[in-house]
Amino acid sequence: MKRILLFILPILIIVSAALTIFGIIQVKYEEDKLMDDLKRKAKTVAESVELSARYALINNDLKSIKRLAESFQKRERMQGCVVYDKEGAILAITERISGWGQKDKPYVKDSFNARAARGGIEKFGDYSVYSYILPILGDDESLLGAVEVVYDTSYLFTTLAVLWKRISITLIILIVSIIGIALLIQRQIFILPVRRLTQWFTHFQKGELEKLRPFEEKGEFGKLVSEVEQVALGLRVARKAVSEKAHARIQKEEAWTEDKLRDLIHAKLGENTFIVVSNREPYMHVSNDISGTPKCVRPASGVVTAIDPILRACGGTWIAHGSGDADRKFINSKNKLGVPPEDNRYILKRVWLNKEEEDGYYYGFSNEGLWPLCHVTHTRPIFRETDWQMYKEVNQKFANSVLEELPAKNPFVFIQDYHFTLLAKMIKEKRPDVTIALFWHIPWPNPEVFAICPYQHEILDGMLSCDLIGFHVQVHCNNFLDTANRLIECRVDTEKFSVIRGSRETFVRSFPISVDGYANVKTTKAETEKIESIRHELQLQDKIVAVGVDRIDYTKGIVERILAIDRFLEKYPQYKDKFVFIQLAAPSRTHIKRYHDLIGEIDELVEKKNWKYSDGIWRPIIYLKRYFSPEEVKPYYLLADICIVSSLHDGMNLVAKEYVSSRSDSSGALMLSRFTGAARELTDAVQINPYSIEEFADAIKFTVEMPVEERLRRMQNMRKIVAENNIYRWAGNIITELTALNKNQP
Ligand code: G6P
Repeated sequence: MKRILLFILPILIIVSAALTIFGIIQVKYEEDKLMDDLKRKAKTVAESVELSARYALINNDLKSIKRLAESFQKRERMQGCVVYDKEGAILAITERISGWGQKDKPYVKDSFNARAARGGIEKFGDYSVYSYILPILGDDESLLGAVEVVYDTSYLFTTLAVLWKRISITLIILIVSIIGIALLIQRQIFILPVRRLTQWFTHFQKGELEKLRPFEEKGEFGKLVSEVEQVALGLRVARKAVSEKAHARIQKEEAWTEDKLRDLIHAKLGENTFIVVSNREPYMHVSNDISGTPKCVRPASGVVTAIDPILRACGGTWIAHGSGDADRKFINSKNKLGVPPEDNRYILKRVWLNKEEEDGYYYGFSNEGLWPLCHVTHTRPIFRETDWQMYKEVNQKFANSVLEELPAKNPFVFIQDYHFTLLAKMIKEKRPDVTIALFWHIPWPNPEVFAICPYQHEILDGMLSCDLIGFHVQVHCNNFLDTANRLIECRVDTEKFSVIRGSRETFVRSFPISVDGYANVKTTKAETEKIESIRHELQLQDKIVAVGVDRIDYTKGIVERILAIDRFLEKYPQYKDKFVFIQLAAPSRTHIKRYHDLIGEIDELVEKKNWKYSDGIWRPIIYLKRYFSPEEVKPYYLLADICIVSSLHDGMNLVAKEYVSSRSDSSGALMLSRFTGAARELTDAVQINPYSIEEFADAIKFTVEMPVEERLRRMQNMRKIVAENNIYRWAGNIITELTALNKNQP
């Protein structure tokens, strides 16, 4: 619109100015002409009555003089006539202008003195009139009196107004025609070709190759179009070649790497983009509290830790809630941006939620309902009908956003987590051809626990629209199959591990998630310096250091960890002044009361325990409560002799795997809650029951005193497992399974 205005506005200004100047000249000319006419008429009439008036004045015939004045009464337009004696007194006046007699008329005297006629515009009440006064002289040139004719001039202004009106109408017609013609030209030479090009691109993007018609544009636009066609052709050929080479490479048996996953995705998805949906976005723009300057952060989230390396490796589009306060400043017109910001490897598409939606869908149903329902940690789930309605609305909003991105053929969508149980169904209502996988990053409870959810039926129905549902461990798969079997009408196939509902079959598989980690990445000089500066700053020299890295969440067992450390020091006082525990804690979901209260509870507990042991400068617990970026966390992993993961219940727990992966010299020991998914793979960790404070305290002693060779052996075993079962293998397995379900795959 702006561009059209820029084009039309100068034309309109020039045309309007020209027409206005023309109008002014025309009106002025007309006005002068009418005025001349009037003057001439007034003069002629005055001269024509002069003779009769002269005769009557000489004879002092007042009757004739009055008759003369009255004869003007019936004349059209003219107001009247006045006859004066030689002193300037009125002898007779036409009745309809009798008021004119009272008016002060200095010009009468002037005309008498000069013995000359005089005409001019005068005010008469609300009117403006033209007066022409003609002195009457005797034969001896003596003054006998005068006649004055008075004309109404209002018709003159009416005539001019009509003229202005005509000019204005012409101007309006001209402006409308110019706008119309300009819009038509613009449409023909610009909008239509651009629309055709956009349509062509949409078909190309969606892979609808049969709909790509050659362009027949000429001139400069034609040249642009032909360049675009060349680029698109090049891209298509390149994609095809990549996909074929990738097919060949994935046949080879090799360890899972970024490159191998990239090959697999190119081979399996062909020219299609990989679409991922999650609530949490991988890159978030937030403003600094003090300066207001926006910066990009990677949120503390297992989903982000796991999926970001996959998309970095393979490209694609990640659709997520734009939750950073500065997020809107960094997107294009389609709410997209290239990420990571410094090295655009894939597309992040942000979906906007208002406060009401965020409260109901995210804080309410997802995190006060489903989260505690699935984590059996004795925090009561809260189900509110309003939250559920909002959850449904937001799922629909995301579904619409996904639908906009789907290619024409073989679309694949990979949904993350409990925020989107209804998404698959909503997408398939519009596009039944999409192959959809859902990965559930948290535990799935047994049917008795799940059965308390008032919306159990809709949730299961929504999830069973997926082609594949993944959990971290087999026990969660079993729980899910049991839940479906008991709570919804379906058939569970225990051979194939699938649920058949109506005509649809959903496969349920365990895929233990992992990290790309810091595996094989040597510690840099900057990191070594950072470790030394932390040691110095926190007075860690000669201390046994344990670390915990968590979001502040009641499922993470942070309180239990502090109680166990307290008990360890109580029970084994020889470790006083020797053992330090550092907790990195990122505040999370703080608008939820349970989380808000937990922050206060931990603050108080840390304070209490440190006070209990306060003696000199040693503090057993160093509590660093803020968000730490992955780069900031790494030095803590590297300096810690022990990493403590004490979740009360956890789908997998990637901190455990990150710690293992960061220890490239195979030093360090991991204490791991047996209620995490990771405990099933990392069997060489010191496994703990965080609910048993006594056992936990003893396990700390056991780990601290573990002989070096045993630590080394355990860490080497765990590193091997994490290296083999890395995040690329996880994604590779899911994609292989998913594409195997799709009959139309390339
Ligand atoms: C868990 C969930 C993720 C979530 C993360 C952080 O790991 O499985 O989906 O992103 O917690 O929680 P938040 O609510 O901050 O995204």
